[in-house]
Amino acid sequence: MSMNFKELADKYGTPLYVYDFNHLSDRYNSLKKAFEGQKSIISYAVKSNSNLSVINHLASLGAGADCVSIGEVRRALKSGVDKYKIIFSGVGKRDDEIREALELGILFINLESEAEMKRVELIAMELDIMARISVRVNPNIDAKTHPYISTGLHESKFGVEIDMAKRMYIYAKNSKNLNPIGIHFHIGSQLTKLEPIREACDIVASLVKSLSAIKIDIKFFDIGGGIGVRYDDEITITPQEYADTIIESTKKLDVTLMCEPGRFITANSGYFVTKVLYEKQNPTTRFVIVDGAMNDLIRPSLYSAYHKIEAYDKEGETSKANIVGPVCESGDFFGKAVELPKLDHNDLLIIHSTGAYGFTMASNYNTRNRSAEVAIIDGKDRLIRERESFETQIALEEKYLI
Ligand code: LLP
Repeated sequence: MSMNFKELADKYGTPLYVYDFNHLSDRYNSLKKAFEGQKSIISYAVKSNSNLSVINHLASLGAGADCVSIGEVRRALKSGVDKYKIIFSGVGKRDDEIREALELGILFINLESEAEMKRVELIAMELDIMARISVRVNPNIDAKTHPYISTGLHESKFGVEIDMAKRMYIYAKNSKNLNPIGIHFHIGSQLTKLEPIREACDIVASLVKSLSAIKIDIKFFDIGGGIGVRYDDEITITPQEYADTIIESTKKLDVTLMCEPGRFITANSGYFVTKVLYEKQNPTTRFVIVDGAMNDLIRPSLYSAYHKIEAYDKEGETSKANIVGPVCESGDFFGKAVELPKLDHNDLLIIHSTGAYGFTMASNYNTRNRSAEVAIIDGKDRLIRERESFETQIALEEKYLI
């Protein structure tokens, strides 16, 4: 670890999220390069880390944005993402969200049900425009990842089956207010194997072919996100293998290839810095109690996710410890049986690979302020979100105090 986390902790306080922006560039560029020679758009999945500066940095490299709420669409536009590279997905879009997305003229709205298609059509009719749409197809593929982040099976709430998708495309083609230009799928997150991706691509590519036979020309082939990253010692897929698989599957189609990586771009860029408050030895277990908690980083509690935890600038004989926060839940932990040296008050622990689904899933549970976020760009640190305060937390209640 080359960063001076002690200096950063002194300057910005803890707990703290730190992101290596050069790493973000490397990740984005490596994926873009893997698609060299193809028409491609890398639409960054804003949900993984929606800090405006993160989106802005990626937009400046040419990234688009994959959004799942009108809030995310607004963030993307505010951060300089080209509107023709923004798509809007999600199973439950409200009328006002659909209307605004149509008025803004983003690339397309990704439909996740027939009922939603009818709503989009109606709103487009009211606005007297053609709504550019895609359909999220559920290819019924087992992505072999955590059940909470696996989305490609029939029992999943996402997307529609192939037959339904076909019916929707035919309906859209005949509608005066719908313009079907894209096709979309996303089989899950943290994918470490190519096979499910290949299978899904093949299924959806053959749907595109059968649509083209009935004069429905799909221009954007969007394979969703999901490229897995290394948290521990996982062997995952490389950008080139990923791109080659997709290119091979779609070689007979004349489409722009799109993907929506979130975690691949942001996860390994992030470090969560937390300070040791106390050590505590119970009859069976050594606990290290830190100032960060599940409200800051919920992945270990929610998915039993592994994040590497290291003591910063501290040596010595190690023993196993559970790293826990101050929140009043037994599920409030960052790691279990982690080998760590004896720690003192104010020592720092660094929790790795926390750039994706870290801050974006943070809450104010236990009236804890969400942490500050800092960018490291070419070795220089910049605050990109200040720490919340008690006052900002209560502002929306205080004026209505009974
Ligand atoms: N596109 C769609 C339609 C998605 O649903 C997702 C993630 C992505 C792209 C981006 O996936 P990625 O490239 O980041 O794997 N909170 C969980 C992850 C939830 C992912 C939800 N959808 C976690 O912390 O692991």
